[in-house]
Amino acid sequence: MKKKIIFSGIQPTGLLTIGNYIGALSQWKYLQKKYFCIYCIADLHSLTIFQEKNILNKNILDILSVCLACGINPKQSIIFIQSHVPQHSQLHWILNCFTNFGEIKRMTQFKEKIHLNKNVNVGLFNYPILMASDILLYQTNKIPVGKDQIQHIELTRDIAYRFNNIYGNIFTIPEKRLNNYGSCVMSLLDPKKKMSKSDYNNNNIISLFDDDFIIKQKINNAVTDSDYPPNIKYDLKNKPGISNMLIILSNITGHSIKNLEQNFKNKNYKDFKKSVIQNLCLFLNKLRKKYFFYRTNKILLKDIITTGATKAKKYASLTLKKVYDAIGLDSL
Ligand code: TRP
Repeated sequence: MKKKIIFSGIQPTGLLTIGNYIGALSQWKYLQKKYFCIYCIADLHSLTIFQEKNILNKNILDILSVCLACGINPKQSIIFIQSHVPQHSQLHWILNCFTNFGEIKRMTQFKEKIHLNKNVNVGLFNYPILMASDILLYQTNKIPVGKDQIQHIELTRDIAYRFNNIYGNIFTIPEKRLNNYGSCVMSLLDPKKKMSKSDYNNNNIISLFDDDFIIKQKINNAVTDSDYPPNIKYDLKNKPGISNMLIILSNITGHSIKNLEQNFKNKNYKDFKKSVIQNLCLFLNKLRKKYFFYRTNKILLKDIITTGATKAKKYASLTLKKVYDAIGLDSL
């Protein structure tokens, strides 16, 4: 049987956190076992905020190297850079014309952003339609995303239904695939809010590039609770700090949360944190080694993205041709 298609994207902005690893990249790696995976570095999406040329270039290669270090296998999956495949922009325009103004105005992420910054560009408004183009170009079946992207996936489905209703079965209707804990990796000092790479307080996050000393400091300062006797138990509501560290530890060691709870029965928070620190340092040191291997090998990176773009174009152009034919463009 043909493998189902997975598509997801990540923006090349800033350094990633352990939350990005657990929420996205570790899942991306795992999904390769079962699905045909297509992963996109969404550089066009990142232009909704002004990007300095050299920094953008650097960020793209950084993220690509992180993806490879995290186990995305370019021989098995497709990894490519969005702007290298012009079909994304071409389909974007067409889908713009099949999306209602009101639908986009209702997107909560847009409403939140416009609230923070009055000076927004039209790209930010159109952003979810570019996302729909990314997804629909590859006849995607499933999209691994965090909770904050659900509304965009719903919009993508609505656009696909609408288009198919008029023109027949052009697009596969995609479904979201939520990860178990992913969107729940929380800030270290305020475990009720999401760990975010754009957090103004660096002590809230573990960056994939924090060294051993910094990791130790940050975990030692991470919020726990004052339960007595100390209780290392997964309980998001009443013990968000401990639960958060259990999620992190479980993901980087591969031990289930149940197992970890058992192992740390009757242990205190200091011992627990010590283990989180040890494992995080081990894990991140290994990851960084792989990262530097790729990041310093420009020829290899160039080869990977050229091959990625070629493969992506093959699929994207098939869908775009179907769309053009259906609409009546390109008929001569
Ligand atoms: N907008 C997504 C984010 O910021 C990234 C993205 C771009 C994406 N295109 C996509 C995610 C398509 C899923 C599918 O996280």
